[in-house]
Amino acid sequence: MSKVVLITGCSTGIGRDLAQRLTQLGYTVVATARKTETMDDLECALKLPLDVTQSDSVNNAVAQTFSQFGQIDFLVNNAGYAIRGALEEIPDEQTQQVFDVNVFGVLRMIRAVAPHMREQKAGRIINISSIGGKLSTPANGTYSATKFALEALNDALRLELSPFGIHVISIEPGAIKTQFDETAQSHGRDILSNKKSPYQPLYQKSDEFAESMRQQEPGPDVVSKVVQRAIESSNPKPRYLAGVAFPSNLVIMYLRDLVWDMALKRMFTFVPQKEIQ
Ligand SMILES: NC(=O)c1ccc[n+]([C@@H]2O[C@H](COP(=O)([O-])OP(=O)(O)OC[C@H]3O[C@@H](n4cnc5c(N)ncnc54)[C@H](OP(=O)(O)O)[C@@H]3O)[C@@H](O)[C@H]2O)c1
Repeated sequence: MSKVVLITGCSTGIGRDLAQRLTQLGYTVVATARKTETMDDLECALKLPLDVTQSDSVNNAVAQTFSQFGQIDFLVNNAGYAIRGALEEIPDEQTQQVFDVNVFGVLRMIRAVAPHMREQKAGRIINISSIGGKLSTPANGTYSATKFALEALNDALRLELSPFGIHVISIEPGAIKTQFDETAQSHGRDILSNKKSPYQPLYQKSDEFAESMRQQEPGPDVVSKVVQRAIESSNPKPRYLAGVAFPSNLVIMYLRDLVWDMALKRMFTFVPQKEIQ
């Protein structure tokens, strides 16, 4: 049997594109999504319901995969979303929800799959992180906090699991054209549209910046190709950038603190709006 790949968040975007690509390449793909009808047109080996915030849902999906195929060679933790807004203005409940998907969701998946991979003495866990896990920007700090957390988990897990023959790999995409931006805006809608917010000028700058990025965003296939490399490499790297163009890649790798703070100050310095009663 061909290698088995379990992917979370296949309803749209990167997860969906990856499920299609790997299926075409002959992998046994187990595509998962919260709503299975969103995957009706995918031709994967198995399609399962999976909400990464629900332990029962995670455990059921992993158990069904093992009972059908007896192995999981690659786990791709892709499900994730962002919320826009200044840290002060995002309610705790929404912050907790995004951590529940982007960080605890990944942990739930790993706890369910790693024991089987340890028994197999082989496997790769591929976590879709972000350049937001390297660089934190105003009005995007909550999302970045989740991806920084994921980067920290990756770095520890890589060494914890390598003695068992398991590779842990972080994929760090730049801005990619998917549902992601719309979801981020919709989660922050009440915050971003509050005309009384002292952060309103920041939200406008952030919006303009997002709009300019949208013009140049590559499609999700750019990320899928990098995940394929991470899967097929005989000696995978701990992390791969995906769709991160020069000079951001240079900044991330070499010049981060120095250049990053200077660039952010130029882009996001704003005069707070007076409190409106
Ligand atoms: N697009 C970008 O610019 C970008 C850049 C860097 C990193 N990323 C990362 O790439 C990954 C995929 O994002 P995308 O760009 O493909 O965005 P997307 O099109 O919005 O896809 C996000 C996926 O996550 C799923 N999801 C959300 N909450 C979930 C939950 N509780 N349980 C299971 N699935 C859940 C969504 O399912 P529903 O349809 O059910 O909501 C959807 O399938 C994310 O981890 C994101 O942080 C994206």
